[in-house]
Order: sequence, then C-alpha cells, then structure tokens
Amino acid sequence: MTTVEHRLPPDYRARTLRADVLAGLTATPKTLPPKWFYDAQGSALFEKITELPEYYPTRAERSILRAVAPEVAAESGAQVLVELGSGSSEKTRLLLDALRDRGTLRSYVPVDVSESALVAAGDALAADYPDLAVQAVESDFEESLGLPSPNGDGRGPRLVAFLGSTIGNMVPAQRAAFLSRVRSQLRPGDTFLLGTDLVKDPAILVAAYDDSAGVTADFNKNVLAVLNAELSADFDLDAFEHVAVWDPEREWIEMRLRSTTVQHVLVRDLGLTVTFADGEEMRTEVSAKFRRAGVEAELAAAGFTMRSWWTDSPGQFGLSLSTPA
Ligand code: AVJ
Repeated sequence: MTTVEHRLPPDYRARTLRADVLAGLTATPKTLPPKWFYDAQGSALFEKITELPEYYPTRAERSILRAVAPEVAAESGAQVLVELGSGSSEKTRLLLDALRDRGTLRSYVPVDVSESALVAAGDALAADYPDLAVQAVESDFEESLGLPSPNGDGRGPRLVAFLGSTIGNMVPAQRAAFLSRVRSQLRPGDTFLLGTDLVKDPAILVAAYDDSAGVTADFNKNVLAVLNAELSADFDLDAFEHVAVWDPEREWIEMRLRSTTVQHVLVRDLGLTVTFADGEEMRTEVSAKFRRAGVEAELAAAGFTMRSWWTDSPGQFGLSLSTPA
C-alpha cells in the first residue's frame, strides 16, 4: 500500500520555479537550476539518456549494485529503505530484493518533490512487493529533508540511498549543506548509500553529455519548454544550441544553452523580458565528477565515516556506504 505524506505547501513548485527563474535569468552569467528539467517530457528524455551507448553512469552504477546489494543489506541491516529522489525503480529493486532476502525489510520511503513520480514509483513496486509498506514523502531534499518521524515502521535501522550521482548536480557548498542535513537526520545504526560518478578521460565525459543521437540536447532544451509551459514564456528552442564542456579545475561537466542570435525572450508570468546576445551561454547544469578521497573527505566533513567503497571494474562509478561518525 502506498501512502503519500505531504511536506510541501500546495504552491511550492510554482513559487520556487518563479524565484529560481527570476534569479537565474537576471544573473550574469545567466543560469537555470537543473531541477526544472524533469517535467513528464524531461523525465522521459532522461530515461532515454540512461539507455544511450555514451551515457555509462546508469549502467555502471547498476552493475555495482547488482554485485554488492547483498553486502549493503548485510552491513545496513535496514528495516527501512529511504530513497532520495525516487529514481529508476530498477536500481531500487536490487536493494529491496537484497533487504527482503535478509528478512529485515519492512518499508520503502521514496522522497521526491514530485507527487506523480512518487505514486508511479510506489505503484510499480506494490505489485511485486505485496508485503512492503510504501510511505512516500513529498519533500524537497535540496531544501529540507523530510525523513519519516521515528514511530511505527520508522523505528528500525534505516538505509538512506542517494543514487545516480544526483549529488553531482550540486556545487560544493550545496553538497556540504546537503550532506550535513542528511547526517543530522540519521541515528546510530542508520547507513547512507551514495552514488558518485568518477573523474575519467574528458572525451568519455563530454560524449556522455553530448551524445550523437542528440537526446541530451533535447533534454537540455526541454527546460525552455518547461518555462514556456509553466511561466508563459516564449523561448524559441531552435534559437539555442546544446553545449557540454568539461571544467578541469572544478572537475565538473557543465551543460549550457547557447543563443544562436540576438534575441529578446518574454517570460510573461514574471513580467520579465530577457535579452540574449549572439553566442551568449546560459548554464543549465553542473554534473560534478568525483574521486574516492574527495568523496570520503566530503562525507567526513559532514560527520560520516565511509565504511565501504565499491566501483565497477573499469572504475567509472563509485558507490559508498557510510555511517554516522
Ligand atoms: C541524473 C543528475 C545524475 O548529471 O548525469 C544526464 C542528469 N544531465 N545527462 C547527470 C543528466 C545530462 C544526470 N543526473
């Protein structure tokens, strides 16, 4: 059975979208936060990205999980699996299966800003895990983290999973704040499972974010369609081109949209007209890449001890299991 606990005011999405877009489009250089990629179309495009030959992270993380899920289950002994960002249920299933096989699993708590994503994730699992209580939490884990209160099924040890290298979408200060917030909500006996994409040959990284079929370009431009639909903006998607660059100092991929002409864009609901110069680039995403020592240090700074570190055999992706220090 799926229950959804609402921790966000009804107008939260609309309010934060407006605030983010106003701040981002009036900044120099212009930026848009990546969280707005994921309307229904954007989520579908992301699913397509995960199947592209160039986009290795999803496959790499899945192969690690396939190999180590039983170890994760044993080390965590979790009764509750909390998943931040209810991602691909396929990876979730590997963890649920391992926890169920150990006989400890009681409930699954997907946490996401999108109620529709939560219900879809819950319903998809309910059929195959009839004894599992799905207690979804609608909350914004980048702002406040709403882990379930310590009552009922929330009492036993919890495994909090943040997979897919979604943490790479945060800049270092955001990551530090986020990890500290996760840490502050854990109790002794809880564990934290973190997926991090690793630094590698820049050609491989750039190809993963600029695929030959152009799916990532469509995904990137879709954020403009989201602004058109939700803020009555008039972005011409054909007047922007997709850019993916590797920043070797900060060790992140940056996705940008480059204006191919001088243009004025109206964002009607904000009463805002924005001018783009010919060739002007707007940042739409950072996707940081990590090294083991850096992950361990960031976790330690937030009060975690890394207990285990696994990679796939080519060493493309890292998965770590940590406990409160
Ligand atoms: C889902 C945020 C991990 O950064 O690799 C894929 C999103 N962006 N292709 C990533 C994404 C471009 C993805 N994350």
